[in-house]
Amino acid sequence: MNKATRKAIIAGNWKMNKTATEAKELISQLIPAVKQADCEVVICTPFTSLCTAVELCRGTNIHVGAENVHFEKSGAYTGEISADMLVDLGVEYVIVGHSERRQYFAETDETVNKRAKAALAAGLKVIVCVGESLAQREQGVTEELVRMQTKIALQDVSAEEMQRVVIAYEPVWAIGTGRTATSEQAQEVCAAIRKVLGELYGQAVAEATTVQYGGSMNAGNADELLEKPDVDGGLIGGASLKADAFGAIVAAASK
Ligand code: 13P
Repeated sequence: MNKATRKAIIAGNWKMNKTATEAKELISQLIPAVKQADCEVVICTPFTSLCTAVELCRGTNIHVGAENVHFEKSGAYTGEISADMLVDLGVEYVIVGHSERRQYFAETDETVNKRAKAALAAGLKVIVCVGESLAQREQGVTEELVRMQTKIALQDVSAEEMQRVVIAYEPVWAIGTGRTATSEQAQEVCAAIRKVLGELYGQAVAEATTVQYGGSMNAGNADELLEKPDVDGGLIGGASLKADAFGAIVAAASK
């Protein structure tokens, strides 16, 4: 982390976990667990828990995000949620392009870009996920792949809008597998992402943009990952569902 030039952000991605009733319970435990944080704390919850989360987190240091957003403003898109709907609820962040959306819901680099632009236009902060599969890592194309995903996701996103963009590097092989990238691997790719940001927007924007690592990050490995200069925080799946584990990661980012 380099807190002198950019914000450290620990964000929980709850994925398809917790009913609204369960969310209430978890958030009531999270509030005291992260209240001393010296980093930004975000929880991204299922749509059904957003109202509860916004209400309970008001006046605390926890920011609330959604896990996806549709790119159209409104219309005949049964089952979808627009950026304006999220903003109206008081939601501040949204994740786009998570590998699970790419893998199971036909998300492409182009639709990730459309979602990012729609979310930014509505005033949301966007966490853009990029990352390679195990096969791609073994083929030696990690850097090219992540560069391409980043460039396409950010097409027509302005330097000014970049103030509301976070990039999350999430190697697919490390998600939910208990197999974390080494801190060197995380650093290498986060630095490569910052390099692309520099090419696209110049050094100042690259230095100011938060680049997170995600993939089996937990209380035990957070310190080592966050020690790396280009790893500015984490996007946390499993460990964000337990207040003590999430609190410990937030504490690691608060050092
Ligand atoms: P895990 O922390 O469960 O590996 O999930 C990471 C992730 O996908 C966060 O978006």
